[in-house]
Amino acid sequence: PSIVTLISGRGSNFEAIVKTAQKEQWPVTFAGVIANHSAAKGLDFARSQGIPAFAIEHREHATRESFDAALMAKIDELGSDLVVLAGFMRILTPGFIRHFEGRLINIHPALLPAFPGLHTHERALEAGVAEHGASVHFVTEGVDEGPIICQASVPVLPGDDADSLAARVLAAEHQIYPRAVKWFLDGRLRIVGNQVQVQPPES
Ligand code: GRF
Repeated sequence: PSIVTLISGRGSNFEAIVKTAQKEQWPVTFAGVIANHSAAKGLDFARSQGIPAFAIEHREHATRESFDAALMAKIDELGSDLVVLAGFMRILTPGFIRHFEGRLINIHPALLPAFPGLHTHERALEAGVAEHGASVHFVTEGVDEGPIICQASVPVLPGDDADSLAARVLAAEHQIYPRAVKWFLDGRLRIVGNQVQVQPPES
């Protein structure tokens, strides 16, 4: 199977997935990484691994639909069984999501349904929650609300600020995202309504 990953920044989640795949020798092809701007640091990591790296500048597209159409064409040209959003900071159009639904996943730095949207760590601190975390989910047309594949929770500690909390959540992201991707590749995820059932490993 092949994976195309979409990033916007440093791509640390993408890196965690690639390194886990290498360590565990997954039978997978990383067909390409696409960033929405050429300055995304994750593109350098992709090149260092010999993974085809592309930038599709969203600023060069007058509409969201035009950008998504270019993105969709590139992903289909590369060929992908799974599209992984890893720190991808663009809202995707319904047409794009419908095209990839069921094989499009994302990681969100909060324990969904808590704190959908942006600035999740500041909001968690503001709300005074004792625990926070990350969620891997299938992408559906609503933002940050698709069926959840897995979550990791981390404690909010006294003295935490957004940066210390974000770092603790990010470390947890790097643990659960590779696991979720592998479950998908192994065909163990079944969407039942808005739930995901993880099937037992092949006996
Ligand atoms: C992470 O917090 C992730 O949850 C969010 O984007 C941030 C950066 O991710 N979606 P990465 O380092 O670019 O993978």
